[in-house]
Amino acid sequence: MKRNWLVALIALMLVLAACGGDGGTDTTEDGGTDTTQAGDGGDGEEITLRILSGNVGAEFESNEIAADLFMEQNPGITVEVVATPDFVEDRLGQYLQLFEAQSPEGDVFQIDVIWPGDLAEHLIDLNEYGGADEVAGHFPAIVENNTVDGKLLGVPWFTDAGLLYYRTDLLEKYNLDPPETWAELEAAATTIQEGERADGNQDFWGFVWQGNAYEGLTCDALEWVASAGGGSIIEPDGTITINNDAAIEVVNQAAGWVGTISPPGVTSYGEEDARGVWQAGNAAFMRNWPYAFSLGNADDSEIAGMFDVSPLPGATSGQSAATLGGWQLAVSKYSEHPEEAAKLAFFMAGESEQKRRAIDYSLNPTIESLYEDAEVLEASPFFGDLFDVFTNAVARPSTVTAPNYSDVSSLFFNSVHSVLTGSADAEDAFLELELDLVDQTGFDTGSP
Ligand code: GLC
Repeated sequence: MKRNWLVALIALMLVLAACGGDGGTDTTEDGGTDTTQAGDGGDGEEITLRILSGNVGAEFESNEIAADLFMEQNPGITVEVVATPDFVEDRLGQYLQLFEAQSPEGDVFQIDVIWPGDLAEHLIDLNEYGGADEVAGHFPAIVENNTVDGKLLGVPWFTDAGLLYYRTDLLEKYNLDPPETWAELEAAATTIQEGERADGNQDFWGFVWQGNAYEGLTCDALEWVASAGGGSIIEPDGTITINNDAAIEVVNQAAGWVGTISPPGVTSYGEEDARGVWQAGNAAFMRNWPYAFSLGNADDSEIAGMFDVSPLPGATSGQSAATLGGWQLAVSKYSEHPEEAAKLAFFMAGESEQKRRAIDYSLNPTIESLYEDAEVLEASPFFGDLFDVFTNAVARPSTVTAPNYSDVSSLFFNSVHSVLTGSADAEDAFLELELDLVDQTGFDTGSP
């Protein structure tokens, strides 16, 4: 955890350094009511907007392209794209430092689907700038997720769901079908790993995923648990359900992958670590988000054209579950240019940008009609084939536990991590987790 705070601190220093000079000077002197027209910078004065951006995969590159397009259309406005740490809790730590200081040094924030409730007090209501019209046509469930006490705190930007990536060439070589259950995945991963090592690749592993003690593990482990019929940790009605036999069994099963079909180091993997092994051609299967699809097919990838995606396995066939992920664009309450910032957020979440990102970066649109767009489907056919996976994804318990979701999640992922690293059995770990969750939330326990 120390390392996380160090990363956050360094990132914050970078933000402040990037702001430099008299970055706090406003364009208006009227005590805070900004009367400049969005888009022209008002009276020829330059406005600088900073967007705090993700840096996983090609997100940062894509945001710089979006910023350039926006600046071409809005000559009075300069947009600076600021990279933030990959792990979401490091990023949240950086955001909270700015918010708690009521700093105007960030205008638009890329926020996780789990954060609207936790960050509500720091974000403006986008409805005050025409948000309701902007989000018409976006998936209603995501708009609802981003609406807290009637306020639209984030415009949906891209959505995510966990997928199983598999090597089509290797399944063919070993005469295997894509696995539909975790047991089938274990068997196929073992066969391919043994075969590839016997053929000379000692670095080859069966299955890579996200096992570090961080939010990504909450996502992976929720998929295991939900796919085994073990509920979703805390249900939408506030019942704490994690301590049940199905959840215990599947998490113990996952612990058995560490060091057998998955590298021992998987317990410190994030998304990009898994993608690194996968894209070097050293894994048969990978759990990851859709962004890895276009990168896996890029020119510098060893496995371009040699893989496909499917729903994740379940405890039994057809019981697959994918965690709902995804990102929104929010505007800070402490921004000195909320109107222009909202305009930037709406532009970046608008249809043409969503289409560009879907085609170039396989980032899933939140605008439903784009799932029928021929160019989008040609670039990422799985958007159409796996449409149900995206629309039926399992939500983490962020709404019901707001504003304390990140504490709840960290109890969960640390508990699962202790099982993966062999310091506890899931029986003991989840009994203790249940008590901690009761303490943390004040909710009751029950069966899923
Ligand atoms: C992806 C998801 C996000 C999730 C994160 C975990 O970025 O979109 O919702 O919290 O992964 O690492």
